[in-house]
Amino acid sequence: MIKLFSVLLVLFSSICFATTVDLGSTFCNQETVDINRFTLLLSNHLLFDHLDKAYTQLSKKISYQFRDAIQVKVKKMKSTSITSTIESKQSVLIPPVDVQILKRQLKGAVGSFVEDKLPAILSNRYNTTILQNQLDHLLYQYCPSKMTQGIVSQQCLLDNLESFLTEIQRYTSQKFQSTLIQINESDLPKLFEKTRAQIAGILVHFNRHTMDNNYHRLELKIKSTHKTRKHWITPDMIQDFINTINHKDNEEETNIRHFLKLST
Ligand SMILES: *[C@@H]1O[C@H](CO)[C@@H](O)[C@H](O)[C@H]1NC(C)=O
Ligand SMILES: *[C@@H]1O[C@H](CO)[C@@H](O)[C@H](O)[C@H]1NC(C)=O
Repeated sequence: MIKLFSVLLVLFSSICFATTVDLGSTFCNQETVDINRFTLLLSNHLLFDHLDKAYTQLSKKISYQFRDAIQVKVKKMKSTSITSTIESKQSVLIPPVDVQILKRQLKGAVGSFVEDKLPAILSNRYNTTILQNQLDHLLYQYCPSKMTQGIVSQQCLLDNLESFLTEIQRYTSQKFQSTLIQINESDLPKLFEKTRAQIAGILVHFNRHTMDNNYHRLELKIKSTHKTRKHWITPDMIQDFINTINHKDNEEETNIRHFLKLST
């Protein structure tokens, strides 16, 4: 045990020596980290490798639910006109537009309408430009020295790495949980209403110009399960989102030590 300790000590002091020589510094392990560069690399990694993915997955799920909720039905009209029975029978049997194709197109329209609007909703609720500042703030809590110069010692950062990572995780989890709850409660009901109105408008157009209204009418129906409970974002979806934004410090190109190396 003591032997191991002395070996480590020798090893440590030789690293120390190398560092000292490299930097021309008089102290051991005084290598410093450019905080601005470090938190920029880290926040870009969180935004582009994690948050973008989480947003895309969430958008797809919400879009799927909206498509499922907004249904288009073809209503056959009881013919009251005085056309011959044969003629009316034929028209009843053969709707003038292929309704299945139309329904698919309308579902596609719901999907793209929703996926188009969601990014703005998300960025209104969480402005991603504050992430880097937030990381700076968390970091200075552990390594306050030399704060004014925008540098901290690399050793301090390494000593506090676990706590720092835990704090980031705590911050992003809490922040995005509350963000998603706000979106669920306030933005999605409005977006659903807008989407419904958009599709209703398209149906008016089709009914007027394409369908023979003596026989068929397209109608919009909201699926009954979505009428009563509008759980657009469920606790499971929030959990998935949080798991996706979590930084796992195990990838070669995107771990903290790699970012540190680029920032010293
Ligand atoms: C986010 O904040 C920055 C800086 O405060 C601002 O310039 C930008 O317009 C904001 N973005 C959104 C989407 O509000
Ligand atoms: C989402 O909103 C609905 C309706 O307000 C609510 O019942 C549900 O609990 C909310 N989901 C979460 C995860 O807060």
